[in-house]
Amino acid sequence: MSAEDMSSEEMIALCKRHTMYTWARGDAVDPIPVARAEGAYIYTPEGQRLLDFNSQLMCVNIGHSHPKVIAAMKRQLDRQLLYVYPGTATGPRARLGRMLADIVPDPINTFFFTLGGAEANENAIKAARLYTGRHKILSRYRSYHGATHACMQLTGDPRRWENEPGPWGFVRVMDPQPYDFSFGATDEEQTRNHLAYLEDLIRMEGPETIAAMFVEPVTGTNGVLPPPRGWLKGLHALLRKYGILLVCDEVMAGFGRTGKWFSFQHGDIVPDIVTMAKGLTSSYAPLGAMGVSDAIAAHFQRNVFWGGLTYNAHALACATAEAVLEVMQEERLVERAAALQPVALEHMARLASKHRSVRAYRSIGLFGVIELQKNAAGETLAPFNGGHPAITRLAGFLRDNGLFTFVRWFNVMCNPPLCITEDELREGFEIIDRGLEITDAAFEG
Ligand SMILES: Cc1ncc(COP(=O)(O)O)c(C=O)c1O
Repeated sequence: MSAEDMSSEEMIALCKRHTMYTWARGDAVDPIPVARAEGAYIYTPEGQRLLDFNSQLMCVNIGHSHPKVIAAMKRQLDRQLLYVYPGTATGPRARLGRMLADIVPDPINTFFFTLGGAEANENAIKAARLYTGRHKILSRYRSYHGATHACMQLTGDPRRWENEPGPWGFVRVMDPQPYDFSFGATDEEQTRNHLAYLEDLIRMEGPETIAAMFVEPVTGTNGVLPPPRGWLKGLHALLRKYGILLVCDEVMAGFGRTGKWFSFQHGDIVPDIVTMAKGLTSSYAPLGAMGVSDAIAAHFQRNVFWGGLTYNAHALACATAEAVLEVMQEERLVERAAALQPVALEHMARLASKHRSVRAYRSIGLFGVIELQKNAAGETLAPFNGGHPAITRLAGFLRDNGLFTFVRWFNVMCNPPLCITEDELREGFEIIDRGLEITDAAFEG
């Protein structure tokens, strides 16, 4: 029986009976039944259409079912080369490696392929430790780096708590822009004070014990948080001073989401290691990668890289990535995300002026969020890691009215595929506009 022959009801019942869902207790999940997806929309078996305002998990950057990518995937099937073991050389692996070396700024020209983002970060932890001979890894509290055992310790957000204790050697630091206390009012103050704090922390931990610091250059699921101006550049210089590698996790923010190929480019730096997944194939096939600088690549010419995966450099996934990157270049989707930023911000500004429950809004390229508040003092509608009945009702309203997005804590995510049209963007913000009546009613004054 194909999925199309199944009703929503059957699909949901079987999925819930025989499969486990992520980050949820099974009896609480309420899955959206999906039969197909095209462009900026997903469709239920009965044909209900939902505008995808989150590119699923901020990953289907080129939009759903692009015909050129589907054709390239079919061509790869017809070539009768789907999988061979990681010790082989293949055309898709060769071409994708070269393409990424062109797209990722120098000196990053060498890539290790994985299945997804967490595996890319796991291998970056290994590479940093093997290269530096040091063991500690720094990361920030407002971060998510993946659900594998080590990546959970790298992750700052509360999804880590139930995954503790984990492997040792991970040290988390505050972000430059916490909400409840301040490193200063201006970008300059925040950058200066946070980097002074970080330098002290590095001294306390012992610089010669620290291999790397991992950062999302624009933090994703923890609220679309860009760092203060100058911070990334200062961080890069500080880490370099102590021989600590900078690893930029571009799993979510990479591949055009922020209006540049990679979000570290907003900070005018190139890290020692970059990790990626999601947008690399627009999630049409599972693929991630770790890119390393020429210096690190040279080290692993002379030394064994102690890492391996059965599905490393999977031919079908690499061919898919190749086609996705071609589409991104042909359709200038990175430039398109940058061009649509002011359009998204204009919609958000309109909502903020109309709805008292809007606390703040941001969109860097098409990486956007609307924050909700419960009072004029700016207290967030839901507490950190908490919920609020009005937020639950808002999430239900959006879904019932044809909009798929993530509503987490007090954040409404606005991360559509980069191919979205201006009309579709308007449609999305109009649904959110109506939904915000619900959170306005919960505003306490
Ligand atoms: C910044 C970041 N890093 C890593 C990951 C983990 O990627 P994956 O789920 O493909 O393992 C994610 C997933 O959302 C992410 O947003």
